[in-house]
Amino acid sequence: MKKKLQVQTGGKLYLAGEYAVLTAGQSAIIKNIPIYMTATVEAAPVITIQSDMFHYQVGMNPDGNYTLIQQTISNFAAFLRQKIENLAGFTLEISGKMERQGVKFGIGSSGSVIILTIKALSAFYQQHLTADTVFKLAAYTLLKSGDNGSMGDLACIAYNELICFTAFDRQRVKAWIDQEPIQTVLEKDWGYTIEPLKPALNFDFLVGWTKTAALSGDMIRLVKGEIKQDFLLHTQEQVQKLKNALLEGEKETVKASLARVSDLLQDLHPAIYSKPLLLLKQAAEGLDAVAKSSGSGGGDCGFALSFDSKTTEDLCKRWQTAGIEVLVIEHCEDK
Ligand code: PMV
Ligand code: MG
Repeated sequence: MKKKLQVQTGGKLYLAGEYAVLTAGQSAIIKNIPIYMTATVEAAPVITIQSDMFHYQVGMNPDGNYTLIQQTISNFAAFLRQKIENLAGFTLEISGKMERQGVKFGIGSSGSVIILTIKALSAFYQQHLTADTVFKLAAYTLLKSGDNGSMGDLACIAYNELICFTAFDRQRVKAWIDQEPIQTVLEKDWGYTIEPLKPALNFDFLVGWTKTAALSGDMIRLVKGEIKQDFLLHTQEQVQKLKNALLEGEKETVKASLARVSDLLQDLHPAIYSKPLLLLKQAAEGLDAVAKSSGSGGGDCGFALSFDSKTTEDLCKRWQTAGIEVLVIEHCEDK
């Protein structure tokens, strides 16, 4: 095992279903984002971890900045039925910050670093894990650490494609985690579904960055109390419409359902549509496009679907005028 191994993970953005998907049984559509983190792993006498986010490296002694990575490694060792001190040592180097000048993009860097670590370790220890097992291992780590998210981000990053994620009962899985060995927990049916989607539609997918950061955990705490049955029902209906319209190539329904889930979010809590996100959305008005906030909102990124190249150009200009930075333009083709 002398070779250096390299793996990558991308980012994610919620297209529809955010906040609703915190409830078991609700669905969200989540898109992979082609901005990547890279991990290099190679054999070494002891475990050493270095991320380009920080100016120092660590081992397995708990370090606040490296907690997620260290917990992922510990859980992976347990998954292999090994004690950390008996594991073959390695150096893990992580690069590719999903941020600029200390301001994060909000495209899922914490989820991405967990999946990245799992992919690096499975390559290093020659485990051939399915995307589904990678997802479960990552969700295990976040649930155990007390994270309050739906885990949809992890599903999208593990599969690295556009997915429809239907949420599981996290309390139930957390109880299993507290009481049973990791292997048993991973073998169980958690009750989620992850459905890769291949849209029958050509469009440009644009990511617009507000250059302001919002913490999903804080936003969830702020908004959670406002999530009522009506919001769940209406959101689920639109998510299903959007999914079918993507699969069937019905552009007008895609636009209408995204506009409708956007309105539902705007009515849910005023903090979701911050000023820059409102500008990002309004920029698509009158164009053959639709734009919306993504995820918990309050900052980070929004996105747009544009249906011709002239529209994409106009939208980019409008976003620039509004102070929105275009992070990604991805041409998505009906395959
Ligand atoms: O802001 P993001 O991209 O982390 O998305 C959060 C989406 C929520 O539904 C609000 C929370 C979650 O984990 O599903
Ligand atoms: Mg966010």
